[in-house]
Amino acid sequence: MVKVVVLGAAGGIGQPLSLLLKLNHAITELALYDIVNSQGVAADLAHIDTPAKVTGYLPPNNGLKLALTGAHLILIPAGVPRKPGMTRDDLFKINAGIVRDLAASIAQNAPKAFVLVISNPVNSTVPIFAEVLKKHGAFEPKRLMGVTTLDLVRASTFASEVSGTDPREVRVPVIGGHSGVTIIPLLSQVKPSYTFTQDQIEALTNRIQFGGDEVVKAKDGSGSATLSMAHAAARFATRILDASIKKVPGIIECCYVNLDADKECGVKIRNTTENLEYFSVNVELGPEGISKIYPIENLSGYEEKLLKEAIPELRGNINKGISFISEDS
Ligand code: NAD
Ligand code: LMR
Repeated sequence: MVKVVVLGAAGGIGQPLSLLLKLNHAITELALYDIVNSQGVAADLAHIDTPAKVTGYLPPNNGLKLALTGAHLILIPAGVPRKPGMTRDDLFKINAGIVRDLAASIAQNAPKAFVLVISNPVNSTVPIFAEVLKKHGAFEPKRLMGVTTLDLVRASTFASEVSGTDPREVRVPVIGGHSGVTIIPLLSQVKPSYTFTQDQIEALTNRIQFGGDEVVKAKDGSGSATLSMAHAAARFATRILDASIKKVPGIIECCYVNLDADKECGVKIRNTTENLEYFSVNVELGPEGISKIYPIENLSGYEEKLLKEAIPELRGNINKGISFISEDS
């Protein structure tokens, strides 16, 4: 039995994400929770002829608890999206409280589940999750991940447009965090190998860092990336299921993690990031979650500069999330 839960399932990301998950044959139960319309979305998806049984839950009658109980994997796109002119950090005042409450319920009802946080600002919402889980004695850094896959998807697409390579073949590691200058694409490590000019590197880096703004601007007040995000989250969820259920070895993905997930490599990364506790890095996924963190190495001079610029903002975002919970108690 493989139960996957989406919290915020009726939203712009939640609906297409739930659709993509319904098409994943490894999932036997798909539980959709939202404060509105989750049962409508569930009824609609339930008619699709794939194995997953779809159920919808609302807050009354212990809906959240019932949705979470027995979960193997939980994806969280609950919360408000940006409008033009806003930063992801501007979402903190609404989304921090939403994710805090969802984290408490996960700690109580599904403490062993894999938790994939999509709600922005990811740089802060993942530390909020961790602090709440710690309070309940349910924090396992190997199973908590901030979803930064959309940055990787964008990097593949934008880099392929310049190199003329099939985007499905192109892989660019993207490390750091998930907002503006904290997003650090390592274009010098693109696979298949390609030598971009410095002008191309700077233009691509800017586009990857601010790809989210491109969509927010184009949607003109009606939200941020939803369809590309649903694709990205479904891809990441599939990798987790491949590693944890199908036991496929050697699956490597980038995501935003607490560096204690792999203490040995985590210490090395903390040394290069002026002791940040959270960072997006390449990780290997195994049956229990993160089995290994890969070191940050072979950065170009330009990428070293990006890293230096990212550290203060990322530290501020992390501390803001941690303080939100410590000041809450
Ligand atoms: P949306 O407003 O369309 O949907 C959000 C959903 O969350 C709504 O259906 C809403 O009812 C629900 N919700 C609100 N409070 C809830 C609660 N307490 N419990 C359960 N559900 C609740 O927004 P969206 O476009 O789907 O974006 C959702 C979040 O994802 C935003 O914070 C956005 O910034 C973020 N996002 C992250 C990434 C990423 O790369 N990590 C990419 C895109 C968007
Ligand atoms: C994105 O990168 O598209 C998301 O984080 C949504 C946003 O606010 O830009």
